[in-house]
Amino acid sequence: MAKVQRGYRCSACGAESAAHAGRCPRCEAWNTLEPFQRAPGVGGLARAGDPDAEPGRILSLRDVPDDPGARLLTGIPEFDRVLGGGIVPGSLVLVGGEPGIGKSTLMLQAAARLAGAGVTVAYVCGEESPRQVRLRATRLGVEGSAVALVPEANLDAALAAAGELGASVLIIDSIQSVYVAGLESRAGGPAQLAEAGARLVGWAKEREIATIVTGHVTKGGEIAGPRLLEHLVDAVLYFESAESGFLRVLRAVKNRFGATDEVGVFEMTGEGLRSVESPSAAFLEAAGTTASGCAVTAIIEGSRPLAIEIQALAVPSHLAAPRRIASGLEVARLHLLLAVLARRGGLFAANLDVVATVSGGLRLRDPSADLAVVAALASAIQDRELEPGTAFLGEVALSGAIRPVQQAQRRLAELARLGLRHCLVPPGTAPVEGLRLLPVGNVREALRVALPQGRPG
Ligand code: TYD
Ligand code: MG
Repeated sequence: MAKVQRGYRCSACGAESAAHAGRCPRCEAWNTLEPFQRAPGVGGLARAGDPDAEPGRILSLRDVPDDPGARLLTGIPEFDRVLGGGIVPGSLVLVGGEPGIGKSTLMLQAAARLAGAGVTVAYVCGEESPRQVRLRATRLGVEGSAVALVPEANLDAALAAAGELGASVLIIDSIQSVYVAGLESRAGGPAQLAEAGARLVGWAKEREIATIVTGHVTKGGEIAGPRLLEHLVDAVLYFESAESGFLRVLRAVKNRFGATDEVGVFEMTGEGLRSVESPSAAFLEAAGTTASGCAVTAIIEGSRPLAIEIQALAVPSHLAAPRRIASGLEVARLHLLLAVLARRGGLFAANLDVVATVSGGLRLRDPSADLAVVAALASAIQDRELEPGTAFLGEVALSGAIRPVQQAQRRLAELARLGLRHCLVPPGTAPVEGLRLLPVGNVREALRVALPQGRPG
């Protein structure tokens, strides 16, 4: 529906129309159309609660408050972190993930915490009966919570119910289980998702109600579905399982109110999701570091350093063009580092299939882990373990030179905190307490230190 500058707006669903009618053309509620006027160009910026947000008044950019409003804390540290420090009122957040990953569990835990803090929460359980939700609540130990369950699959009816309750937070679990009346398309179909998304954005902004919707995505996330909503919503968080099975990583892939590379780490327990306080330790523990081809490094994810393990495997290939498989890093980077290793380190993988992965399902976003990848590859090619307790930090240039990385001190401090004892670093790296730094100028030097000749493999 096109934005009109002046006209009538439905107080139930937020639909706008140029002409007055007794019945809303969209949600078909009676006598809900009210006159409104929008200032050209700023309608989307002005928000209820802003001192200058009267409709029709043009705001100077510098007068618009930069504070998006007091955030609501869910009290689940890892969830709040990924949201950018809590939920912004009026924002629409999509939490996507495969079925069974733990979306409903996270939603119910957050809802119960918020309700416990006196926030009115409406939980639209389109997917399950209230009895099923109650069963989960009992398992989570929050059955006494004041969360308002709305067992309603009709989106407009659900919104009306939430409005009536005076909810400040609305949870819709899941977007595929609700439908917009009057559309031909089936619930969960593209037309339904697009329309439901558009209504929710308007509704959340209009009423300053923080709205979280869950959405199922299939493995790989390729199937059209919640991805259709990504451009509409303020934040997109994806829930994934890390390799060990019970670790869950919640990743912000879009966030208008926070960092997009932020991750939250949870453990799925018998009593719901538990925030993992030291994800580094969990990732290293899950990886288990006593095998050839494994090298530890520290990356920066969002606002914090995380220790991770690079794992590489190299086996004789029967193919004319041996395989190169990379997960968590670009395959082009793997090719490049193998080339550097061959030319500058004298280690060839031309007749080996090579696989390289990053622990915890994380992704390398910058070259700071190059040295760790090179060490893991060298260790895999020679099938010899790297010295236990040793970490690697540094970018590798085509010349084989080891280059400094950003925020080296924070990374090194995290490695020291986790009990690593040595770290190969670029020359000139400032010392850090608790970690012995081994400066290496180039790949050949790094290999001499990490895989000394004569040490049994
Ligand atoms: P669920 O939140 O229903 O996943 P989603 O909404 O993403 O489909 O989580 C379902 C899985 O989590 C299910 O396999 C059971 C498991 N689980 C636990 O291990 N512990 C718990 O406390 C709960 C509530 C679920
Ligand atoms: Mg669910």
